[in-house]
Order: sequence, then structure tokens, then C-alpha cells
Amino acid sequence: MAKIFDEESRTFSEYLLIPNLTTAENTPDKVDLSIPICRYRKGTEEPKLKINIPLVSAIMQSVSDSGMAIALARSGGISFIFQSQPIESQCEMVRKVKKYKAGLVTSDSNLTPDNTLADVLELRERMGHRTVAVTHDGTPNGKLLGLVTSRDYRVSRMDPSTKVSDFMTPFEHLVYAAEGTTLKEANDIIWEHKINQLPIVDTDNCLVGLVFRKDYESHKENPIELLDDQKRLLVGAGINTRDYMERVPALVHAGADVLCIDSSDGFSQWQEDTLRWVKQNFPEVPVGAGNIVDAEGFRFLAEAGADFIKVGIGGGSICITREQKGIGCGQASAVLAVSAERKKYFDETGSYIPICSDGGIVLDYHLTLALAMGADFMMLGRYFARFDESPTRKMLVAGNYVKEYWGEGSNRARNWQRYDDGGTGGKMSFEEGVDSYVPYAGTLKDNLDTSLAKIKSTMSSCGASSIEEFQQKARLVVVSSTSIVEGGAHDVIQKDNDRPR
Ligand code: IMP
Repeated sequence: MAKIFDEESRTFSEYLLIPNLTTAENTPDKVDLSIPICRYRKGTEEPKLKINIPLVSAIMQSVSDSGMAIALARSGGISFIFQSQPIESQCEMVRKVKKYKAGLVTSDSNLTPDNTLADVLELRERMGHRTVAVTHDGTPNGKLLGLVTSRDYRVSRMDPSTKVSDFMTPFEHLVYAAEGTTLKEANDIIWEHKINQLPIVDTDNCLVGLVFRKDYESHKENPIELLDDQKRLLVGAGINTRDYMERVPALVHAGADVLCIDSSDGFSQWQEDTLRWVKQNFPEVPVGAGNIVDAEGFRFLAEAGADFIKVGIGGGSICITREQKGIGCGQASAVLAVSAERKKYFDETGSYIPICSDGGIVLDYHLTLALAMGADFMMLGRYFARFDESPTRKMLVAGNYVKEYWGEGSNRARNWQRYDDGGTGGKMSFEEGVDSYVPYAGTLKDNLDTSLAKIKSTMSSCGASSIEEFQQKARLVVVSSTSIVEGGAHDVIQKDNDRPR
């Protein structure tokens, strides 16, 4: 007969935290949210990889491309670029993040000296930019020969067939700076010379990018930006258990800082094979695995060499795995069970394996509960999909702005590697996710600031100034369904425009 677990599985909303004594040491401004995300020998070894806020974005087409990865790393977290795409395009996204320099824009309006005024006007209309770089071959990184801005031509007086070389500001008359110039130095040059943009060139005078006067304020250095030792943003990448022998070397070469196997069910021989291969061939590259929901699954992946382990089956907002296959577990119970096993593993081996709670975060306080229950960091899809920086379309539906958000198990994503159970030879025979909209919420930074403020405030109320301290001190209580009703505004007539966000 099947084994029946003694306790029912629960979700985050069924728990609340009980406050502890708050002292002057526990104010929100003193809370440190940085956390290691890869296996290390706690107490005797420094962790290899830390993030500055405990949030990572999901390995999904509708969430994590290079734009999201740049925005999130600039705010202290990390994105895992989706693997359900050709290896080369995933690598290109990784390279884009590694090459990113705050405030340095790759020129996307470029012409050659033989183009004409008509070409300039057409390009301006199409791209909406006033600055055109003139390079020897018309590419963004060709040898810089001049610039054209709206001060260089008068449409009413000039023949549209006039060549760019006749009216551009030639290289000899340009103010420019060398590659490696910091954003602050570039801004000083812009002010000193009263110019609006500064081209940055390499030692061969090839164009690297442009710094614009207007961008400085929005790009000033951010103290919790997540940077590597060469001051480049950190980025993660998803991999799968099929093409890892080609995908992993390409991603590592492109500069990926951490990898994660993307799978709906991590308790499998294929994950073990993948982990062993990565560890053997790229021992320096941290690699996470998952998803699992219990002690056995955790132990299996820990022994196979996973650097972090992702917890969660069936709790994702777009996920229908539980309905389709009848597998999964309430997210809170899964995190509690796995963190108990992680402690045992640590006591036995001295090796601490961070765990990542993946999916099912609906309200900001669920983030804090996940941490209290032992998660070191959380992976989110729906949360990030709502922001300007997610790769999907913003649309107006029934009078409300929304963004598209689809599951990796939906027909639209065609990510059969994630749902591969080894037998079908790469066909998806049924869907495990839906295609949906989420309410548009604005910029990542604005929303993240609010979520992080709530986490810090709750941690302060629980007398903790770091995630580790919080996990040790947190006291949780299961709430009845009537206490949940009591927790919202009740028995008042709420004004429509006065709902807390
Ligand atoms: P969310 O933050 O609740 O939206 O959940 C995001 C998580 O759902 C991802 O990180 C994946 O683990 C999982 N996921 C993504 N796509 C699918 C799907 O199509 N079916 C089931 N789970 C999915």
C-alpha cells in the first residue's frame, strides 16, 4: 500500500510570524539581505558566490532575458537566462549582460560617410534618435569617422542627396574618450565641453559606445549592484539534461557565472548525470539543480554534487502540473521538509547547501516566510513578469495595462527539455503550464524597493539583522482559515482608491 504522510502539506498563506524582541540593533536600515547561493563549508570557508538580495528571476522565456538580467543584477539579485532557445542566442544574452556598462549605450543608429542626408532623416524617423555615428562600415563597432546630430544639417537648405561625409562632424573635431573611462569621468568630460554625448573608442579608434548627458543620474553607481571582480554584472543561465555537453561549455565561455538545471522534476537519473558531468568538466562553475519537494530528493541532488537546490513542484502561478499529473506538494511544507534535511546533511558533512524556494510567491510577505522556513533565496516568475524590464509585450486589455506571462510547460514555450521524462524522445504530449496576462506594475526598481522594505521591516520585528539570524530566531504559527480573514481589512467599507499595495 502507498505510504501516506502524517501531515497535510501547506502553503505560505497558512503561516504567520510571531514577533521577537526588537532592539536598537534590529532596525530595518541595519538589515543585511546578502546571502551565499552556492555550497560551501560554513565556518571554515568563504562562500564563492553571494547575492546582495535574496531574489532571483525564473528560468523562463517570459521573464529572464538580458534586459531583466541587467536590471536585476543592478539591484543586487541575479537572473537565470532561459534555456529553451538555441545555445547561440542564449550565449548572446549572457554576453550582453557581461558587456553591459552602466550608462554606456551601444550605438544603434549608424551610417557610413557615403550615405546621404535622406538616409539620416530616414534613420532618425525609424529609430527616434538624434545622434548618428558614422563608422567606416556602418556598424556599431566600426572605426569611428564622425558624428551627425541635428546641429549638423538644415533640411530646408540642403539637398537630400548630400553625402554624410560633407556635413558630419569629423573625428578630428570630436571630443571622445578611451575605453575604460568611468561613467563619472565621462560625465565630467560632457560637462566640461558642453556636449550632449561622448563617444567611447578603443585603441584602434573603433566605436565602443556612447555616453549621453541625460543618462548620468539614472545610472549613478548603485551600492548593492552585483558585480564580479572585473566590475561586470553577474548573470546565471539555465541548462537542461539533454544538450548540456554542448550548452555548458558555450555558456561558460560566454561568461555565465552560475548555472541551474531547469526541470519540473529534479529527482532523476538525468540530473545526476548532468551534475556529475558539469562537476567533472567545469569544477569551478557553480551549478544548481531541482526541483524537488522532500528530503529524499534533496539528499539525492546533494550527493550528486548540486551547489544549490531548488524546491517546488506545482506551486507556480502558471503551473498546472498538479492538475495534470497529480504530483507536487504545498510550497511551505516542501521548504520546511527540505531545510530540515539540509541541516542534517550539514551536521553530517560540514557542507552547507543553499536552498531556493521556487514558485508560488503571491504576496510580499510570502518572501519573508520562505526565508524564515529555511530558504536562502527565492526564484520568482510572475513577480518579475509584471515589470517594464521583462521581455514580453505590454498590452491594454479591458482598460487595464497587462504584460504577457506564459509557463515553460505551455505549448507556447515549447520547452520540452524541461518536461523530459526520458521516454518520449523529445515530444511534449500534454501541457503543464498556461499562457496568461499579469497586471503591469511599472519598473523593477520601484517594486523591488517596496518588497525589500517589507522584508527588512518584518525581520526587524523578529529581532534579526541577517537572513541567517532570522532563520535561527523565527517563530511561525499555523493560522486557521478564520484568522486569515481577520488578517485583512474587515468589517469596514473600504474606499476603492485606498487599498495597500
Ligand atoms: P511563479 O513565480 O509563481 O510565477 O512561478 C515561477 C516558477 O514556476 C518557475 O521558476 C518554474 O519553476 C515554474 N514554472 C515555469 N513554467 C512552468 C510551467 O509551464 N508549468 C509548471 N511550472 C512552471
